[in-house]
Amino acid sequence: MPVADLNQKDNPLNLAIVIMAAGKGTRLKSRRPKVLHVIGGKPLLSHVIASASRLVPVSDIFVVVGHESESVKNAIANSGVSFVLQAEQLGTGHAIQCSLDSIRKYENILVLSGDVPLIRPETITLLWEFHQAQGAAMTILSAKPESPFGYGRIVRMPNDAIEVEAIVEQSSLRPAQEGIQEINSGIYIFQTVYLERYLKGLDTKNSAREYYLTDLAGILVKAGERVVAIEARSADEVLGANTIAELVALDTTLRRQSAARLMAQGVTIFRPETSVIDAGVEVGPDTIIEPFVQLLGTTRIGSDCLIRSNTVVENSVIEDGVIIRQSCVITDSSIDRGARIGPFAHLRPGSEIGEDAHVGNFVETKKARLGKGAKANHLTYLGDAEVGAGSNIGAGVITCNYDGVNKHTTNIGAGVFVGSDSTLVAPISIGDGAYIGAGSCITRDVPIDALAVGRSRQVTKENWAAGKRKRLRGEC
Ligand code: UD1
Ligand code: CA
Repeated sequence: MPVADLNQKDNPLNLAIVIMAAGKGTRLKSRRPKVLHVIGGKPLLSHVIASASRLVPVSDIFVVVGHESESVKNAIANSGVSFVLQAEQLGTGHAIQCSLDSIRKYENILVLSGDVPLIRPETITLLWEFHQAQGAAMTILSAKPESPFGYGRIVRMPNDAIEVEAIVEQSSLRPAQEGIQEINSGIYIFQTVYLERYLKGLDTKNSAREYYLTDLAGILVKAGERVVAIEARSADEVLGANTIAELVALDTTLRRQSAARLMAQGVTIFRPETSVIDAGVEVGPDTIIEPFVQLLGTTRIGSDCLIRSNTVVENSVIEDGVIIRQSCVITDSSIDRGARIGPFAHLRPGSEIGEDAHVGNFVETKKARLGKGAKANHLTYLGDAEVGAGSNIGAGVITCNYDGVNKHTTNIGAGVFVGSDSTLVAPISIGDGAYIGAGSCITRDVPIDALAVGRSRQVTKENWAAGKRKRLRGEC
């Protein structure tokens, strides 16, 4: 089973993946549908889709929606998966019944739960290989977590390490079964012919009055079909999120896991349980990441960088030796080696910060390119701007790029000095080596090496203040 082959067009396994995501999540006591609750910066369902799409093309992934179906569909609209509607949520067995029309053309069906988000593609691959090797009608992924309470339990055939007799839900456990440690993960592979033949045999004779997909194990066994289970190597990845406490525990596990991946590659991450690091993020060795940092999407960070607390970097490239101070937000941008950013800098999409450049506190950039060694250290907005190498942008400088209708560009050459509190009204060009006097409003191009001052002249009245004080005191 190919893992990480994102571009595969065909599906040689003839396998469909159904993700059950129609339930309300009553135990969360939340208005938001369970599968849209967020861990590690992403909805539960997005984590499951990310794993599933490493195994089959997204067109072979079917998400069962029902409760708040529109908001669930909207949240994952860009993922490319197909949807199946389960208008009334009558149980996990019913969710699969509703999917049959879409999936019967595949030979095998892998069922995942939208609320079991940490499942790794590698584990599903093991399940698949076991299913194939065993030629089973139903293959169950099981686990032995610290506390099995609340989960369906795997009742094994007497003296058999492979075959299963039934799955029994927590509420239906007989006293003798309460000690069973092996739980049902809610992840299974079925040969479609058996699924189709026996699904209609489910009933709602249980405490929840629902069609339990888990009953299918016992039904298949009674019909003489083979049902097997394989235990996941780590119980952590099959734990579900049924309550807020469980959800938060999964979030912590996920953060620890993704941080552990980078730490194994020589990255120092302090308080890793506070970081959010997406699966696709790469960081070079000897980079230090302080607590409460989020590294998202396709972000790549080089070696010997320092990323200080509370910084969020999304889809950006940061080269070696960069220092990002506290509380910066960096999106769709690039930062060249040795640059210094922040604290409290906002690099919006299209910012390209050159080698050794400085972007200081309360500076916002958008579609702005700063050349080598350029500096904008305090309280500045650079939008649709080009700043040449070695230029210095004083405190409070603003590129006025928007006229209310269109955006215009500001071109600042190399070695330019823009005095503090100046506004540059775009479209405008400032030539290499030019000086702009502090407090200027610059509306016309400034040639190379010129000085431009655009402010009213200062008026100074000698002794005026002393006279005013006398007048106020009534002394004259
Ligand atoms: C289910 C299993 C249990 C297993 C556990 C593992 C059943 C009856 N029980 O219990 O054996 O140990 O998962 O996590 O299957 N859903 C629908 N439509 C429905 C009902 C549920 O799509 O009508 C979806 C939910 O949104 C959820 C998933 O199916 O994503 C599982 O449902 P949930 O109610 O959480 O089942 P559990 O009680 O956890
Ligand atoms: Ca569940």
